Amino acid sequence: MDAFVIEGPATLKGSVTVSGSKNSALPLLFASLLFDSEVVFENVPRLWDVETTLKILGLMGAEYQWDKEEGRISLIPRLKSPVAPYEWVRQMRAGILALGPLVAKAGHAKVSLPGGCAIGARPVNFHIDAMRKMGAEIDVEEGYIKAKVNGGLKGADICFSQVTVTGTENILVVASRAEGETTIHNAACEPEVVALGTFLKDCGAKISGLGTPSIRVLGPCRLKAPESPIVISPDRIETGTWISAAVATRSELRLKKCDASQLTSVLDAYRNLGVEFDVSPDQSEVAVKPDGNYSSINVDTRPYPGFPTDMQAQMMANMCLAQGKSTIRESIFENRFMHVGELRRLGASIEVEGNLATIVGPSQLEGAPIMATDLRASASLVVAALSARGLTRISRIYHLDRGYQRLDEKLQMLGANVRRVRE
Ligand code: EPU
Repeated sequence: MDAFVIEGPATLKGSVTVSGSKNSALPLLFASLLFDSEVVFENVPRLWDVETTLKILGLMGAEYQWDKEEGRISLIPRLKSPVAPYEWVRQMRAGILALGPLVAKAGHAKVSLPGGCAIGARPVNFHIDAMRKMGAEIDVEEGYIKAKVNGGLKGADICFSQVTVTGTENILVVASRAEGETTIHNAACEPEVVALGTFLKDCGAKISGLGTPSIRVLGPCRLKAPESPIVISPDRIETGTWISAAVATRSELRLKKCDASQLTSVLDAYRNLGVEFDVSPDQSEVAVKPDGNYSSINVDTRPYPGFPTDMQAQMMANMCLAQGKSTIRESIFENRFMHVGELRRLGASIEVEGNLATIVGPSQLEGAPIMATDLRASASLVVAALSARGLTRISRIYHLDRGYQRLDEKLQMLGANVRRVRE
C-alpha cells in the first residue's frame, strides 16, 4: 500500500489540467455493453476505478485497448457472460452500473450486491424496484442480484423517493430498450446523467427532459453504436478539489480544461468564503484567487445543482482556516464524516451531531500521521496536509488513486512537496 508524505505549509504556483470525469466515464463504459461493435472513448482518466470497470467488462467478454497516455479506450463489448462478480464489485460500488445495460441487452444478469462502504449503507433497492416495475424478474440471493427478462421490458412510471445518480443512469439505459414510455420522476440532474442520456440519444434513443427531475424515454429504440469517439467531460469534483487546494495554500491557481458551468454552487460557496474567480468566457478555464482571509459559511449538501456531497470533505478542510463557526449539513449520505477524526488529529476543531458538522476556525493545522478512509475523505486530508505546518503522512492512499489521476504528480508540478512512499 502507498502513503503520501506531504510537507506543509505549501505554496502552489502555475496551472493544472483537469482530467476526464470518473463518474461520467464509468456509466458510459458500462453502457457500451449495449453494442456489438467498437466504441471509442477519449479523455478517459487514468484511474483505478476505470481499471476495475475494464476488468469487469473483460470478464463479460469485452476486448479493449487502453492507451493510458492518450486517455483513449477502444472497446468491443462482445457480451458473452453477463456476470459482474463480487471480487470486483466490492472494490468499486459503481459495478452496479453493469446491471442496467445487461438487463437491457442480454435480458439476464448476475451482478454482485455492492455491500456497504465507508460513507454509508448505500443500498440499491431503488434500482431493483424500478427494474422489477419494468418487467425484470429479480431475485437477490447469495449476495447477487439475479435478473431475468421473460416477457420483455415495458415502460413504466418510475418515482424515486430520493434522488439517485446511478439509479437514474441504470433506468435510463433499461428504458431505452423497453416497450413504451418511461417517465423517471425525481430523476438526478447531475451532468454525468445528462452525458449518459446524450450519448444514448446520439445512439438513437428518444429521451427528453435530461437535466430536469422528470425524464421521459420513449422505447424501444434501435440503438446504433456511435461512429465518432465519445469524449469524457472534465471532472467537476477534481476541479473543485483544485479550488480547495488553492484555498488551503492561499495560492493563485489556474485550472485548465474544466467546465465551470457545472460548478455554480461550488463557486458560490467559495465566493461566500471569500475567494475570487476569473472564469473564461467559454467556462473552460478558472483562475482561483484566494486572498487568504476566509469568512465562516454554512453549506448543505444537495443533489445537483446543489452543493455536491463529493466536495463536502474538501470544503471542511478549508473551513478550518475560516474565521468563526462554519457548518456543513450532509444530506445525501448518513456516514460521510469519517474524515473528521483525521482532521482533528491535525488540530482542527470540529464537532459532529447527527448529520451536522460544526467547524470552528481559524486553526493552525499541524502535520501528523493520518489515514484515508474513502476517496473524497482522502482528498480533504491532502488539502488539509498542504495547509498544515510540518510533515503529514497519509496512509491508505489507494482510495485516492481510485478517483484522482496522478494527484501527487500534479501537486509536485505545482511546487508542493509531496512524496509517494510504500508502506
Ligand atoms: N439510495 C438508496 N437506495 C438506492 C440508491 C440510493 O437508499 O437504491 C440512497 C443512498 O444510500 C444515498 C442516496 O440515495 O443516501 C443517494 O445515492 P446515489 O444513488 O445518488 O449515489 P450513487 O449513485 O451510488 C453517485 C456517485 C457518488 C456520489 C453520489 C451522490 C457514481 C459512480 N457515484 O453514487 O460518487 O457521491 O452519486 O452524488 O456516480 C465519489 O465519486 O466519490 C462518489 C461517492
